[in-house]
Amino acid sequence: MDFSVYLLTLLSLFSQCTAQWCYQSQYSCDDTCRDPIRWAAQFPSCGGLRQSPINIVTTKVHVNGALPPFNFIGHTNTINVTVDNKGHSAHFALPQSVRLTGGALPGHYRAAQFHFHWGGNGRPGSEHTIDGEQFPMELHIVHIKEPYGSLAEAEHDMAGIALLAFLFEETPDDNPQLDIVIAALGRVQTNGSSTVIPDFRLSDIIPSDKDLHSYYRYVGSMTTPGCEQAVAWTLFHRMISISSRQLESITQQCRFWTGQPMMNIFRPTQPLDGRVVYRSKAGAAMGSVMHWWVGAFSVLLGQRV
Ligand SMILES: *[C@@H]1O[C@H](CO)[C@@H](O)[C@H](O)[C@H]1NC(C)=O
Ligand SMILES: *[C@@H]1O[C@H](CO)[C@@H](O)[C@H](O)[C@H]1NC(C)=O
Ligand SMILES: [Zn+2]
Repeated sequence: MDFSVYLLTLLSLFSQCTAQWCYQSQYSCDDTCRDPIRWAAQFPSCGGLRQSPINIVTTKVHVNGALPPFNFIGHTNTINVTVDNKGHSAHFALPQSVRLTGGALPGHYRAAQFHFHWGGNGRPGSEHTIDGEQFPMELHIVHIKEPYGSLAEAEHDMAGIALLAFLFEETPDDNPQLDIVIAALGRVQTNGSSTVIPDFRLSDIIPSDKDLHSYYRYVGSMTTPGCEQAVAWTLFHRMISISSRQLESITQQCRFWTGQPMMNIFRPTQPLDGRVVYRSKAGAAMGSVMHWWVGAFSVLLGQRV
């Protein structure tokens, strides 16, 4: 074999084996990591037709009366949560005693972990957008369908994973419930570091059950490689509040596996490719009040003209 061909083959093999995926914010021209647009080269599912996140166009969602509330199990249990800096984000491990049924999900689901997606320097960092608007941060609670024990096992089931998502809204006042999470992130600043939050309750950081009847539902994927198309997504209408001061401390503490500040950890929105986004009826109730109100208002305007 010609030496230069040999060298090229060797080089390309080398880059194929070592290329790690990264977010756009980590990528620079002299970097060998794969930014979101090139994830599919290494992880074919990332180029599939049911990818997440998406932009939700509220005027195009289908109201669905068959999307009942969830049944949350173990969300008020006191647990010890291990927090790990995974190099791309920080994962908060949940025990299998935290479970989920209802919500028109086809089975029983066990919690695995939760994590956040955020921006940086005052810019938003949610993954899902609503009518094109990106929100400051997004919480994902990952559940695996029984009897699967891992993402790899659940991967071939279109609803093998149930992902619950909450968007954050910026408020002037701190949300004191988040301080414990922010402090834990401060203890896992580098790739591979780990800490424990003792006496944690998931119900401390998410809104109460009665506020969770309104949600969007669609089928999609994990938002990090391998982008497994096995996710029943639930995005709640109800948001979680966070102050700009808290956002700043969240986005400035951790570092990527490359050593850079862990900022803008979100995948850009993906094409809907013909999928339908559903909205639960409880959400529709609010919507129909709005329609009625807008209707009444245009009648008034009509009379004035
Ligand atoms: C949490 O950890 C503490 C200290 O290791 C232990 O005493 C306690 O039993 C643990 N709690 C649970 C719910 O596992
Ligand atoms: C990041 O940490 C993980 C272990 O948590 C390790 O396997 C990986 O090699 C680390 N990456 C870098 C670039 O240090
Ligand atoms: Zn996520």
